[in-house]
Amino acid sequence: ADVRTYDFTVGWVNRNPDGQHERRVMAINGQWPIPTIHATVGDQVVVNFKNDLGDRPCSLHFHGLYMNGTTHMDGVAQSTQCPVPAGSVFTYSFNVTQPGTYWYHSHVDGQYPDGLRGPLIVRDPENPYADQFDEELVLTLSDWYHDEMPGLISSFLSVTNPTGAEPVPNSALMNDTQNLQIPVQPGKTYFIRIVNMAAFAAQYFWIEGHTFRIIELDGIYHKPTEAEQIYLTAAQRVGILLTTKNQTTDNFAVVGSMDQDLFDQIPDGLNPNVTSYLVYNKDAPMPNATDIEEFNPFDDTELVPTDEEALYEDPAVSYTIDVKMDNLRDGTNYAFFNDVTFVRPKVPTLYTVLTSGDLATNETVYGVNTHPLILSHNQVVEIVLNNHDPGKHPFHLHGHAFQVLHRGAEEGGDWDPEALRNGSVTYPATPMRRDTLLVRPNGNFVIRFRSDNPGVWLFHCHIEWHVDSGLILTFVEAPLQLQQQLNGKIPEDHFDACRAQDMPIE
Ligand code: C2O
Repeated sequence: ADVRTYDFTVGWVNRNPDGQHERRVMAINGQWPIPTIHATVGDQVVVNFKNDLGDRPCSLHFHGLYMNGTTHMDGVAQSTQCPVPAGSVFTYSFNVTQPGTYWYHSHVDGQYPDGLRGPLIVRDPENPYADQFDEELVLTLSDWYHDEMPGLISSFLSVTNPTGAEPVPNSALMNDTQNLQIPVQPGKTYFIRIVNMAAFAAQYFWIEGHTFRIIELDGIYHKPTEAEQIYLTAAQRVGILLTTKNQTTDNFAVVGSMDQDLFDQIPDGLNPNVTSYLVYNKDAPMPNATDIEEFNPFDDTELVPTDEEALYEDPAVSYTIDVKMDNLRDGTNYAFFNDVTFVRPKVPTLYTVLTSGDLATNETVYGVNTHPLILSHNQVVEIVLNNHDPGKHPFHLHGHAFQVLHRGAEEGGDWDPEALRNGSVTYPATPMRRDTLLVRPNGNFVIRFRSDNPGVWLFHCHIEWHVDSGLILTFVEAPLQLQQQLNGKIPEDHFDACRAQDMPIE
């Protein structure tokens, strides 16, 4: 195992990724798209992170990594650390134990869509599909805004937007550009790791004239399954095997198409698509994508993990959580889990765990609006999520992947346990696992995970607008074991960031 050290300074550069508008973006070491973090299973990753943004705090979160034993490196502002103030340095250090396709992004509310998001790839010396491909590629998808987030957020969360209409992206990007050319050779198989780093828009993805096999969801290998079109919500990753044709005359469009059902209104002239090209012959024409009327993506819940991990036993605890959007008395639209809209605590939740002794198992110490759910160690935890909103939401759990037992149909209403008893629904014997899952409009899902990873882990909608409007809760997992793990003390290297901004730690 190696130590992979990255020296990252975040600062501003100007870019025009969609060719329509130049703006400031958050770059790393003057580079944008920001660099990919590479590691191999077993490595230690060290990121010396310097904030040169000048006027705002920042952080890095490594999306999908379990951070086993290092919840204090999860990078969530006001949850696992004080955000890193402008002019300061913070060192992230953690071991990488999972292979697969991940990404990293700022986890200060609503910040990463200004550019601070990039792939994190963990190579696997024991990849079970290693002998089935010749080369690896990474493709990122993203929506893109011409305006900067702070201004968009303040008009989104205001009395002038009582319905909570989310700002609609100006365009879509692939590898932070458009009309990307992807050179390929005939008769070869490529392992393509696709990451949706969007603020908001899910994308349909397909390659004209080709099918492919899905083998990975959010870092978990699944049994190869043929598909023509997939759907990636914000924050999801899918790994596919693509075998190219035995020809060198034609090129083919590779299309990402933003799901316009998410948008309250569709602005004139919006092009929801980003098109790249699978280039077999650079002198041949680059074909346009054909228009699709009806999308029909592969349903991820049908996949089976390669390790065939069995359905976890009946849960020790099951939370039923409903989602809704509503106005508070100030006339602004907020998002709610069971009538609680998340408000960031003044003291990072992790520090409260570490300084409150036996009281750490008492949810009242964390404050109601942190929406703390306290988990005992090593239990099966179930979440039944009922979406009372007519919108789609991608839910993400930090610190874990979860088994997906059921996902209800659009407009199917709340989960009904009776369905299990009367046999109209059965749970899969080897459920699909991932870390970010779509719930359909007025639909539901049922997921399970094991509380085997003491830490402070958020569960939230990964649409950044809904992060800002409060669709977040906090799992405080095995707080007493967590105190032992961190010797009952706030890690020393966390103090500087808090002190530099006069932020309370107790
Ligand atoms: Cu991609 Cu809360 O994270």
